[in-house]
Amino acid sequence: MKWRNALIIVAVILLMVPVVFSQNSSVKQVPIKNVPAADGQQMYAAYCASCHGADGRGGPAALSLRRAPADLTQLSRQNQGRYPSLRVQQTILASTHSSEMPQWRGLFYSLCPGNRMAEAETMARGVNLARYVETLQR
Ligand code: HEC
Repeated sequence: MKWRNALIIVAVILLMVPVVFSQNSSVKQVPIKNVPAADGQQMYAAYCASCHGADGRGGPAALSLRRAPADLTQLSRQNQGRYPSLRVQQTILASTHSSEMPQWRGLFYSLCPGNRMAEAETMARGVNLARYVETLQR
């Protein structure tokens, strides 16, 4: 009986930790991973899922944001059934926008320092991410 109580207490503490953690801290900063620019799915998993969720409807880091991340499954529905591909690319790559979205453009650029193809590769990342986000539409 005592053991069972102890286990329950441990379980409750474990459940509480992420909540407490997310309430008084910001998203943990990690160096950007160099995921292939051609692979939208892998980029989404590495760069976006923490806030937007694997399915586009919100991920674990969303709890620590002041503003809820957009539900990425509703972009077509909110745009008369047409996926706003260009707008999504712009949202991802816009170099100046006052939002809680990380500034991807600079981060993507940092993945190819001194590379003459940096601009093209950064564009490709925006396009391929936008294509992948299109597959999340409901
Ligand atoms: C640190 C959390 C965070 C990460 C990581 C993140 N986003 Fe966001 N995103 C947000 C928030 C918050 C918003 C809500 C609006 C705002 O603040 O601009 C948003 C908004 C958006 C929008 C606008 C949706 C609309 O209604 O037009 C798109 C598109 C988007 N994110 C795509 C992405 C993609 C693709 C990635 C990965 C490359 C990504 N986000 C990574 C937090 C994040």
